[in-house]
Amino acid sequence: MCHMRIDVLTLFPEAIEPFFAVSIAGRAIESGLVTMSCVNFRDFATDKHRSVDDRPFGGGPGMVLMCGPVFDALAHVEGQVKRQAPGTVPTKIMLTPQGEPLTQSLLSELSTHPWLVVLCGHYEGFDERIRQGAGVREISIGDYVVSGGEAAAVVLLDGVIRLLPGALGHGQGTVEESFADGLLEYPQYTRPREYGGMTVPEVLLSGNHAEIAAWRLAQMRERTAKHRPDLLLGDE
Ligand code: ADE
Repeated sequence: MCHMRIDVLTLFPEAIEPFFAVSIAGRAIESGLVTMSCVNFRDFATDKHRSVDDRPFGGGPGMVLMCGPVFDALAHVEGQVKRQAPGTVPTKIMLTPQGEPLTQSLLSELSTHPWLVVLCGHYEGFDERIRQGAGVREISIGDYVVSGGEAAAVVLLDGVIRLLPGALGHGQGTVEESFADGLLEYPQYTRPREYGGMTVPEVLLSGNHAEIAAWRLAQMRERTAKHRPDLLLGDE
């Protein structure tokens, strides 16, 4: 069985942990497919105030995460895993709006890595020397800003975990859905057949599997053309 280890380095483990206690990611962890642990940078602060950030040199607003606690937290995690699973190479990810854009194909690639170490920033960001010295891959979840890397880490890790073989509990899920083949999903219906005057398309009640498949494909194409024509042009 392939197993993935995930370490999340953050100032707010409590913002990450509950998400991975439920649903698909929760089950993947419970079943041993994934081992996940959160490490708080603050546990690696060295002064009496347990500082992890400081004002930027040169002035300006906000605070900057300091090198010391971040590099020490990384060294701690890497040391621990190297003892437990020698030879495993970490893929270190820094979540930042200036990173490589997250796409389904990047998620798919990351899902083949045995060990992800994810750094979540806050405030004004990381001291630049962390980028330079930690060998991180910078990733952005999109062209917008959220207030911390935690929200971005949850998006990335959820997207990775559900691609692990066995995580969804049925083989087809990830193949059939949106983006796996570059099209948006077809509409789905369940009981009742009529709700508030709105009905289910007849073809879905016909039992004719070929017709249903053809209808769904047509819907996928139509929706994609309407909502995301950029996907049809192949310019991801
Ligand atoms: N931190 C703040 N905004 C972000 C984004 N869009 N992607 C990754 N990390 C972030």
